[in-house]
Amino acid sequence: AQALGAREDLRGERVLITAGPTREPIDPVRFLSNAATGTQGIALAAEALARGAAVDLVLGPTTASPPPGAHVVRVTTAREMDAAVRELAGGATIAIATAAVADWRPAVTHDQKVKKTEEVTAIALERNPDILAGLGARRDGALFLVGFAAETSDFETHAREKLAGKHLDLIAVNDVGGTRGFGDVDNALVVLWGTDGRRDLGSGSKRELAARLWDAILERKRAQAD
Ligand code: CTP
Ligand code: CA
Repeated sequence: AQALGAREDLRGERVLITAGPTREPIDPVRFLSNAATGTQGIALAAEALARGAAVDLVLGPTTASPPPGAHVVRVTTAREMDAAVRELAGGATIAIATAAVADWRPAVTHDQKVKKTEEVTAIALERNPDILAGLGARRDGALFLVGFAAETSDFETHAREKLAGKHLDLIAVNDVGGTRGFGDVDNALVVLWGTDGRRDLGSGSKRELAARLWDAILERKRAQAD
């Protein structure tokens, strides 16, 4: 049933969202990861569904529940997330990368638990694929591409570099200094586009910000189509 007054302004859109952390195994019981919970991406998925979109949600390891009605693909590693995104991207009209992808993975994953009696002083790492940059490199005009930037300093400068470097239409900047940004807490977002487009979405719950971000995405998408 449709809530009274609910908008249907995403009907006809097929939305691809990445969310959550990734986990990069060291051995069967240990991994590299980060503090992300997927909450902002899940809120964007829930809001998109409420506004009539079809949603593919590629979700890393988190205890947060995806919204009913989304097509959910659970993944663990960055490379699994990349493969799932490649498979789903062709059908998407809008893609939003909220996932906190581990930038590196252990170069070697041990089959057996590493014993503490071993002399381990460092873990060799390899760079993971940049999933969003890959989408940006392969994109055409039919896909509206949105990224997030998790920053702890010089927010807008770094975010504008990601906006241009990954060929995005829009980027949402998230301050993740201290414990900000992670989990079921209020968030604050600024969105950037083009060479100097900027809108402060203010602060609020992740669901409130999801609604404001969708408004901004639709406005920019329509402005580009004109
Ligand atoms: N991203 C991705 N795949 C990666 C790394 C990042 O898809 N391997 C996406 C994130 O989901 C986000 C955007 O790229 O939408 C920016 O992520 P962020 O971690 O802020 O930037 P990086 O490009 O990884 O650079 P850095 O971590 O050095 O700031
Ligand atoms: Ca990163």
